Amino acid sequence: MVENGTQPKAGVYFVGAGPGDPELLTLKGQRLIQQADVIVYADSLVPSGILQFAAATATCIPTAALTLEEILPLMISAVEAGKVVVRLQSGDPSLYSAIHEQIQRLAAAGIEVEVVPGISAYQLAAARLKAELTLPELVQTIILTRASGRTRVPAAEELASLAAHQASLCLYLSANCVQRAQQQLLAHYPPDTLVAIGYRLGWPDEQLWLVPLSEMASVSQQQRLTRTTLYLISPALAAQHVTPFQGRSCLYSPEHHHLFRPD
Ligand SMILES: C[S@@+](CC[C@H](N)C(=O)[O-])C[C@H]1O[C@@H](n2cnc3c(N)ncnc32)[C@H](O)[C@@H]1O
Repeated sequence: MVENGTQPKAGVYFVGAGPGDPELLTLKGQRLIQQADVIVYADSLVPSGILQFAAATATCIPTAALTLEEILPLMISAVEAGKVVVRLQSGDPSLYSAIHEQIQRLAAAGIEVEVVPGISAYQLAAARLKAELTLPELVQTIILTRASGRTRVPAAEELASLAAHQASLCLYLSANCVQRAQQQLLAHYPPDTLVAIGYRLGWPDEQLWLVPLSEMASVSQQQRLTRTTLYLISPALAAQHVTPFQGRSCLYSPEHHHLFRPD
């Protein structure tokens, strides 16, 4: 889809709405919402506050109760009528958003799409904690994953094997099987590894707990967390919240020379 200046051509724009706070939309996402004739949004995860940017004349269609077979004709008929359609997805559309199946079927109907990235839930969790998840010499990898539940995770990606890396691990869609997830993580992370539990981050009723891994399941159960919960398990959290980490990056070291700071 080619844009002419800031005027969108009719088509479907998949826009990452971020975790909830409307101020965490990208400028491009906000502009597209303003220009949309039809906004199809996942109301279970995208708060209505995001729709404040929509034109008064825009048609806003919640999709939590709809099937793919019901959602697609809505988008296709709107595009065929020359309307600008925005499909609002929570967080970033590259993660657990089911955009692939929508894009494939839109393509079969001859409709092009553009995807606008958004801020994912794990990024807001890290920001709330003022945490860097990649501390030099401590942890340099971030794993984004989910526990195996109704949607099966490939065997090679079972939590117990991912845990062996002791990376910063962000666990989506897993509140319903948190007990088993905790057990699998304990196979490799020490029990006192800090876990941030974020509930509805960026929503008015946001909550964030910082607990040892050994209490991840019990706190989740006490708080009755079953959905919209993100777990962030990382050695970096203790280094920033318990024992101050003294390491530093090469990037800003006086001994380290590079293209922009030759000797
Ligand atoms: C269907 S996935 C969508 C993920 C989304 N695309 C993203 O990048 O954040 C829904 C899961 O993402 C996480 N999630 C999404 N929004 C969240 C929020 N505001 N607070 C906490 N977790 C959230 C939860 O794990 C939830 O079960």
